[in-house]
Amino acid sequence: MKIGIIVGSVREGRAARTVAEWVQATADQREEATFEIVDLADFDLPMLTSPIIPGMANRQYDDERVVRFGQAIDQYDGFVFVTPEYNHSIPGAFKNAFDSLAPEWTGKTVAFVSYGADGGIRAVEHWRSVVANFSMHAVRQQVALSLFTELGQDGLQLQERRVGELDVLVDQLVAATRALVLQDQPVA
Ligand SMILES: Cc1cc2nc3c(=O)[nH]c(=O)nc-3n(C[C@H](O)[C@H](O)[C@H](O)COP(=O)(O)O)c2cc1C
Repeated sequence: MKIGIIVGSVREGRAARTVAEWVQATADQREEATFEIVDLADFDLPMLTSPIIPGMANRQYDDERVVRFGQAIDQYDGFVFVTPEYNHSIPGAFKNAFDSLAPEWTGKTVAFVSYGADGGIRAVEHWRSVVANFSMHAVRQQVALSLFTELGQDGLQLQERRVGELDVLVDQLVAATRALVLQDQPVA
């Protein structure tokens, strides 16, 4: 099983990469799945302008950067979305990246690690509605970090309970992903 940890901000000086590295370092101690970082900033994705809706494109996207992103996302059975909250919602660049593909997300699992003044919880509530469109299975547990007390100039200063919270999130994500992967295997 392979899980992609998506770095959901492309801003210079972003916190997302640091948060994603913490998720990977913690999740990597588990043997049930491989956890890899997928950094949106590595793909330089264009704004979606294609006349063909991604869901109708049969993976034949008209921009090479989108094709490359699609191939990257296709490798994973499930995801951790590391998401900030911008203006009480999802960051535009992350939403655009999500909108640029379709079958690559469909039916897969997702869990959310967020941050913001109020833990980024509004962004996650919006994500839950968005991912439903691709029948993604979003797990209940989420980790919501405080922008003011846990994300500093000198890296993360996490509350002690965060490791336990992330552990439960990974448990739920691995269990849901395993169930879906097994379901897809042909009966012998
Ligand atoms: C355009 C913009 C809008 C923001 N709006 C919110 C907001 O509505 N709620 C919030 O908690 N933080 C908000 N913030 C602050 C972000 O939580 C903070 O800048 C965080 O570090 C952004 O994540 P990033 O550094 O990974 O890009 C906003 C930041 C930006 C850049």
